[in-house]
Parts: sequence; structure tokens; C-alpha cells
Amino acid sequence: MVGHEAGVGVGLIGLGTIGTGVTKLLRRNCAVLEERLGFPLHLVRVADLDLSRARNLDLGGARFDADAEALIDDPAVAIVIELIGGYEVARRLILRAVERGKHVVTANKALLAVHGKEIFDTARRRGVDVAFEASVGGGIPILRSLREGLAANRIQSVHGIINGTTNYVLTEMEKTGETFEVVLARAKELGYAEADPAFDVDGIDAAHKLTLLAGMAFGAEIAFKQIPTEGIRGLAPVEFEAAREFGYRIKLLGIAKLREGAPERIEVRVHPTLVPEASLLAKVDGAMNAIAVQGDAVGPTLFYGAGAGEMPTASAVVADVMEIAREIRRGTAGRVAPLSYMPEALRPKPLVPLGELYGRTYLRFTALDRPGVLSRIAGVLGEEGIGIESVIQKGRGHGEASVPVVVMTHPASEAAVQRALERIDRMADVTAPTRLLRIEEEI
Ligand code: HSE
Repeated sequence: MVGHEAGVGVGLIGLGTIGTGVTKLLRRNCAVLEERLGFPLHLVRVADLDLSRARNLDLGGARFDADAEALIDDPAVAIVIELIGGYEVARRLILRAVERGKHVVTANKALLAVHGKEIFDTARRRGVDVAFEASVGGGIPILRSLREGLAANRIQSVHGIINGTTNYVLTEMEKTGETFEVVLARAKELGYAEADPAFDVDGIDAAHKLTLLAGMAFGAEIAFKQIPTEGIRGLAPVEFEAAREFGYRIKLLGIAKLREGAPERIEVRVHPTLVPEASLLAKVDGAMNAIAVQGDAVGPTLFYGAGAGEMPTASAVVADVMEIAREIRRGTAGRVAPLSYMPEALRPKPLVPLGELYGRTYLRFTALDRPGVLSRIAGVLGEEGIGIESVIQKGRGHGEASVPVVVMTHPASEAAVQRALERIDRMADVTAPTRLLRIEEEI
């Protein structure tokens, strides 16, 4: 058996926020972990290029140096935890570990969304596990739930608030009326944001996570790059006010749905979304995450918790280590299909283009406050077959100032709405591109 004599040996690469949390949790809950497992976990080695990071940490006697490769190759290490993030170095280290027959635990959603196939295929060939619960929803055990607790279901939809930074920014902007930039700076200070916060605000982090969620929900091979992704930049204070007046709140959602009668294609998309004020997802505030999963047998379910942060994410990492350690002891490691479907059952599934979406739509025009502007906009919408359900105009333009005009349409196809917007945004009275927000009525 690979591993420590009296237990299972663990090596940790990356002593950043989550890595630090993992070392603390392994120490703090050492007794309860052993009571649950029946054997101890041993943190054998830790590696980080920044040797000052361990200064105030109790690593319980684990060897600490900058040599990640020696850690992987150390025969006392059976499970390698990769928490350095990023693409190239992390990919190389994970593949090295897997090739050497080591099991891997990672929180690296970006890497798995882009290079998952290569990593999972290599792991399968080598008969080792790659576990990644911490990569989606921080401490929420959503991947394990899709793989095990909901395994008897045909999953119909997944709607997730899966980026804490943007949920914090949206909540604060709505509550305080502060600008996007001010609130984002605070989110960075609180440690929610990715190293490059563009990943958060442009929806990329959510799309990484949705690639994994949708793949596991539907047994689909999904190309991350094909997921239509919009972030929260450019949302104006008026959006929050108008959404409230229409009975909605604004959330950045990752959405993955089966289409009625056409299960060969799936809807997978990330964008700011109007959700009904009374829905549970509308009540998820601050940096919290929540994922609503609808299964054909179980019906609606909701998973809620901290989607980021040192200890919540460490909770998911250590749980993965425990699961693999149990399997090592049972001799069953490497037999779990990490994406919840057997690899040969995974199918590439084409995504439904946004133009085929059909529903009510929120449109915020920015137009000069001249007589007849609204009727000219309404005229173009009408020519494209789009009815108006209600209109809100905020403030008055003085002289040549622009004002926001918010329209809730009747149900229409998005292709028709996009055609109308192309024409409207070229009108002389319209001074900025129109903001379109999609609505999810049934969550
Ligand atoms: N930047 C991510 C978030 C961290 O804000 O949710 C957790 O993946």
C-alpha cells in the first residue's frame, strides 16, 4: 500500500488561503476525522514556493519545502492535494501525480473545465481518483450530491448562484446604491475574488463551475468555450430598482436545463438573470452560493452555503481526502466515475443557441428624453413581433441628457429581440447599447 504505515499519507501543494485552511482543519478536527475513518490521515509534506507562508502555521511535523515534484514522488504520499490554481503548472503537477499512481484532490475549476478530459482520462487509465468537490460551491457538497444523493434521477435543471464575488457585488449594489467599482474593491479585500477578478465579474469563474455541474448533471461533454457567458459589468443602479418594481431581483446565474421533448440538446448559459422575488434563489445574499437542482424523482432541491473562503472550501477538500482515503483502505480507489457518469456514457451535447430562447425580457434603453422616442422604440419592437407588457422611465432628461427607459416585453424569441435591438441601438435618439436581461420564471 502506498501511504503512511498507520494511516493514509497526504501531501499538500499550495499554502494559499485554502491550503492554509486545509492544514488548520486537519489539525483542528484530527480526532473527529479519525473517529469517522477508523484510521488517521497524515499530512506528510507541504510544498509552496513562498517559504514564509508556513511561518505562523502548525503543520504538525509535516516536511515543508518548495519542491512539489519531490512531494508527488514521495512514497509516503498517497493523496496529493493541488491548491495552487491556474492552468499550466497545476496541470503538469496533477498529471505527474496521476501518472505516478497518486490520487488527487483539487479545487481547480478553471483547469478541470478546460483540461478535465485529459486529466480524467489519464486518471482512469492509471486507476486513481481525481476529486474536486471544492471546485464548485466552496463548502457545499453539490458535486457529491449530483453523483450520489441524486444518482437515481434524471436531472432536469440546475440553476446556480455559483460565484460569491458577484453575488456579493449585486447584493451590495442593490442595498447601498454604491458603484460597481467600490463594491468590487471591498469583495477583493474580503478575499472572495479570484486572483484576476475579471474571472468573477465577467462570469468566467461561474462558467468554469457550470461546465462541471452540467457535465455531471446530464452526462454531457461540454466545451467551456461554447457556454454563452455574460458578467455583471455595466449593470446600472436603475436595473435593481426597475427589477424590484417588476417583482424580481437580479442574480448572476449558471443555468443548465434539459429541453422538453429534445433531450439531445441542452441549455447551458451564464448571465445576470431576473429571478422572481419570492423564489428561494432571490433570497441568497452576500457571498453565499446556492444551487437549485430539479430531478424527475426528487423534485426541487436547494443546496446553500459558503461558496468561497478558507474554512468552507477546506471543508470540501478534506472531505474528498477522507473519501479517497477510505477507498484506498478498502482497495476500491479509482472506481468512482468522477463526472458521475461512466466515461463511455459521456456524450458531447450541442448547446441550444441563445436565439432560440423564448420568454419575457427586460430591456433597458438609454435614450434622449425627446417627444416620440418611446413610440419609435415601441414601433421597432412591434415590427419584430415583440409586445410591451410595461414601461418604467426613471428621471427626466434635461436638455439633451439621456434617461433610462426600462421595458418588460411579452414573451418573444430572443432572436427577434436581438434583431430589434440591433435596429434600436442605431437610432439617433438612443445613446448607449441597450441592456438585455433574461428572466427565469420557474425556479
Ligand atoms: N472567486 C470565487 C467566488 C471563489 O467568488 O465564488 C470560489 O470559487
